[in-house]
Amino acid sequence: MKRSFEKGFFAPLPVLIIGTYDADGTANAMNAAWGGQIGMSQVSVSLSPSHKTTENIKLNREFTIAYATAEQIAACDYVGVVSGNKVADKLAKCGFTVTKSDKVNAPLIDQLPVAIECRVIDIQEEFGETRVVAEVVGLKADESVMTDGKVDYDKVGLVTYDTVSKTYRTVGGSVAAARSIGRKFE
Ligand SMILES: Cc1cc2nc3c(=O)[nH]c(=O)nc-3n(C[C@H](O)[C@H](O)[C@H](O)COP(=O)(O)O)c2cc1C
Repeated sequence: MKRSFEKGFFAPLPVLIIGTYDADGTANAMNAAWGGQIGMSQVSVSLSPSHKTTENIKLNREFTIAYATAEQIAACDYVGVVSGNKVADKLAKCGFTVTKSDKVNAPLIDQLPVAIECRVIDIQEEFGETRVVAEVVGLKADESVMTDGKVDYDKVGLVTYDTVSKTYRTVGGSVAAARSIGRKFE
């Protein structure tokens, strides 16, 4: 028998590390689980208006989203508990270094192997949140996580955020070929 709950969340939720620059060109990053893909070329993230990241996105209208990894999980968590509004050298404190993206005015975190580059399409202030909708204009991937010229997610060490146990979980291996395994019922 199924039990009923008042609230529900998607599972798995992503662990997105949003990279931005402030007005002085200082790099910042924050951890976001409330975000996702919209169709083939857009993403949306839901941000608290008080975050340094929110201010930076409104200023530059460009940002990066790197995927958190198991190897870098402590640093990825740190950028989700400390604000760049209070700790100016937030990234240095957790060992993150950055390289400016060649496509957007935003930093790429050197220690995280895969990131998408985003340009804002719309910013909606609703329900006390700042919802940012952006176009994905590029993707960067370290050669170390590629196989035959493509990103190989077996090598990335992706993690998800579990809202029940409030822990990060690793993403497992592939179980079947998509748009293929189900065809056996045709
Ligand atoms: C697992 C996790 C998920 C989070 N998801 C979000 C989110 O989706 N939106 C949000 O506004 N804050 C989220 N936060 C909180 C921000 O990452 C945190 O407040 C951060 O310090 C903001 O940094 P900034 O002020 O330097 O931008 C999350 C934190 C953690 C640890």
